Amino acid sequence: MMEDNTKPKIRGLHSLRLLMEPGEYYYCSCGRTNNNPFCDSSHNEGTNFKPIPTKIHIKQEVKWCDCRMSKTLPFCDHSHRELPGYQPK
Ligand code: FES
Repeated sequence: MMEDNTKPKIRGLHSLRLLMEPGEYYYCSCGRTNNNPFCDSSHNEGTNFKPIPTKIHIKQEVKWCDCRMSKTLPFCDHSHRELPGYQPK
């Protein structure tokens, strides 16, 4: 089946929690990166997605969205709980 390049690729059905240092990051909104959750320019291969620049001001655990359905991208809003196949941890 052909991949639909207008839709983000769901990578996981839970948030991706990472301890982040302060800095500017480029979140992958297309879900096709090989450096999840950060953009590696894979979006240039046939999609119109763009990375989301994100500033992290203090060292903290960040809950990145891994399903790409969050209304508060790049951060998890628990939208993954509505997706088929979701199982609580
Ligand atoms: S690789 Fe997904 S937005 Fe760049």
